[in-house]
Amino acid sequence: MKTKILVTGGMGYIGSHTVVELQNSGYRVVIADNLCNSKKEILLQIEKITGIRPDFELVDLQNADATLRLFEKHKDLSGVIHFAAYKAVGESMEFPLLYYHNNLFSLINTIQAMLKHDINNFVFSSSCTVYGNPDKLPVDEKTAVKPAISPYGNTKRISEELLYDTVNTTSLKSISLRYFNPAGAHSSGLIGELPMGVPNNLVPFITQTAIGKRDILKVFGNDYSTPDGTCIRDYIHVEDLAKAHVVSIERMAGRKQKNSFEIFNLGTGSGNSVLEVIKTFEKVSGIKIPFKYTGRRPGDVPAVWADTSLANNELGWKARKNLDDMMRSAWIWEQNLAEGKIFSM
Ligand code: NAD
Ligand code: UFG
Repeated sequence: MKTKILVTGGMGYIGSHTVVELQNSGYRVVIADNLCNSKKEILLQIEKITGIRPDFELVDLQNADATLRLFEKHKDLSGVIHFAAYKAVGESMEFPLLYYHNNLFSLINTIQAMLKHDINNFVFSSSCTVYGNPDKLPVDEKTAVKPAISPYGNTKRISEELLYDTVNTTSLKSISLRYFNPAGAHSSGLIGELPMGVPNNLVPFITQTAIGKRDILKVFGNDYSTPDGTCIRDYIHVEDLAKAHVVSIERMAGRKQKNSFEIFNLGTGSGNSVLEVIKTFEKVSGIKIPFKYTGRRPGDVPAVWADTSLANNELGWKARKNLDDMMRSAWIWEQNLAEGKIFSM
């Protein structure tokens, strides 16, 4: 049996896939989550996939005392993967304080509790949003971080700075993983993205339109300076993303870090337009997606995709799945949800 890892936000979309990968790799896992954007039933789903029910602690990490109690109870942790945060860009524009409060206090409380118990390996969920609208593509990790367009994006930029300052002055070591656009669901069809209310993101909006929950997809702008006029993103399968977290934990445990604070882009290294995503979904599902062009969405950048050389060479990690796999698995997940196979709604 390998060591024990705390996964904050482990009931959420990326966290639950990471818990599966950790358990399949022999790690013991404790999930800390306040279920503000996830459901308790995910524990059973993880158990169905891996045969193991992870430990679960219902904790709001914004509460410093509760966070300390969590670490008092689980003193034998060898690392922490921190997913817990709010993530809706538009909502952060409306309620910036909620975002600064949750995303920063949860991070600070977790790190303080780690330092108190001499737990030093910390993997952080960052985002390509820190690059803003990049001057050149693809973006590598040396690309300048731009002023954030949203409070959400700003919390990721500040969090990375906070981590940089903390590793320079304490025993903490950290890897910050800058995700591009996570998509798809687990190949078992048992876990996936669970948007509360109307989805903000493209892929769940497409699958909900296909299943009949939404009437029509709005494509936000077709006048960008891209080949088909719609925005380009680097979509990455959530299972590939999850695996990178296990590799990061192993790198830290094996003391293979070149610096105490490392940053890696996680993408496939190529971009797809909104129209290409729609076409790919239609191809794998056989379902036509009704869509209409509307104006640009404020804050959207025309195009961003990753240079993944650093993650490929240093972590020895590479995305294996393609857009077809993402669309196919997202569609199976949506159908399983609709058929009541996951939760009885
Ligand atoms: P998610 O909302 O599905 O998962 C986050 C989990 O954290 C949820 O289960 C939620 O209940 C929990 N949580 C939130 N605040 C908490 C708190 N104070 N205490 C305890 N638990 C709390 O989101 P996700 O898509 O899995 O994203 C995970 C991380 O990755 C986030 O930090 C997000 O900002 C980052 N990220 C996500 C994307 C994306 O497109 N999904 C892209 C880049 C970065
Ligand atoms: N889009 C539409 N219609 C929709 C939803 C999205 O046309 O209904 C378009 C957007 O305009 C964009 C593309 O689809 O061009 C992707 O949009 P998403 O909302 O799915 O993803 P974003 O690139 O805007 O942002 C996502 C996460 C952020 C994260 C960022 C980078 O939402 O949290 O990826 O990781 F910071």
